[in-house]
Amino acid sequence: RPRVLSGIQPTADSFHLGNYLGAVRQWVALQDDHDAFYFVPDLHAITVEHDPATLADRTRNGVAQLLALGLDPDRCTVFVQSHVPEHSQLGWILGCLTGFGEASRMTQFKDKAAKQGSDRATVGLFTYPILQAADILLYHADRVPVGEDQRQHVELTRDLAQRFNSRFGKVLTVPEPHILAGTAKIYDLQDPTAKMSKSSSTPAGIVNLLDDPKVSAKKIRSAVTDAEREIRYDVAAKPGIANLLTIHSSFSGRTIPELEADYAGRGYGDLKKDLAEIVADFTAPLAKRVQAYMDDPAELDRVLARGATRARDVAGATLAAVHDKIGFLPPT
Ligand code: TYM
Repeated sequence: RPRVLSGIQPTADSFHLGNYLGAVRQWVALQDDHDAFYFVPDLHAITVEHDPATLADRTRNGVAQLLALGLDPDRCTVFVQSHVPEHSQLGWILGCLTGFGEASRMTQFKDKAAKQGSDRATVGLFTYPILQAADILLYHADRVPVGEDQRQHVELTRDLAQRFNSRFGKVLTVPEPHILAGTAKIYDLQDPTAKMSKSSSTPAGIVNLLDDPKVSAKKIRSAVTDAEREIRYDVAAKPGIANLLTIHSSFSGRTIPELEADYAGRGYGDLKKDLAEIVADFTAPLAKRVQAYMDDPAELDRVLARGATRARDVAGATLAAVHDKIGFLPPT
């Protein structure tokens, strides 16, 4: 069975619609016919300033959300990144294969560093994509299901794997990004030319999975659209409406042309009202399921302990092979 691996950062109290439609929904689907590894990258979460107690809560809550969204620990491996020390270890080695200029070209780093100011951006933020490459390569992932914003990091991962293999001998699997054309980029409701983002969207621009449906309905009603009246999918001219149609289509299963026909002659208010209901149907039962996992910390710990053991088996073997190839003396 082909192997997939992906991760989602615990940097907010709730995942949002972009995370779900761009990534986690695919993770759930892929666990059926893939050997799947999914994790919460807490090491990545400390590349920006953080509060320790909040991080621990969000990490637990992140795992609970993944389970509530449909990851099944009997069919996939769910773990927390810091439970598997091999990630940092391979990250160091890959850092020694990455050019400074190459790392400097990562657009997500440039964006985040610009936002924080160069004095406050950390070296960890700079090396973040290299750690992500380690995450992927430790597990010999064939495919990495992510949103469009992660494409460049998967490209770097491919380059590093090829470089390692050609210098030291073939050990690492070169992964393919698994990015779904329709939902790879869900946009901010208030700024439909920017992606919906845990770190940079305003609260009104994000539909959180754990928001009260009334709050989400209000955000959807207030979504920025355009001065026309026609409900038509046109990303360049009508990015707000295009985004609402994308979200509608991915939950309702109706194609975009079907939706355009359904809404012919109807107003933006109708589309928004229907969409709020569709989203509420999905999110309303979710909060309860997340809470049930949060109320049973012992069960969550068991899931994570099992996940860490399985992950370390694979990661440890890869790291040992890497050490051997690069000439580290085996421990005696
Ligand atoms: P993160 O935590 O920012 O996002 C988790 C996943 O959600 C996707 N995503 C989106 N998809 C569509 N539209 C959006 N508006 C949107 N916003 C986010 C992201 O593309 C991602 O797939 N660096 C990663 C975490 C990571 C990782 C890894 C991923 C660490 N190691 C190894 C894959 C493999 C990140 O920050 O994702």
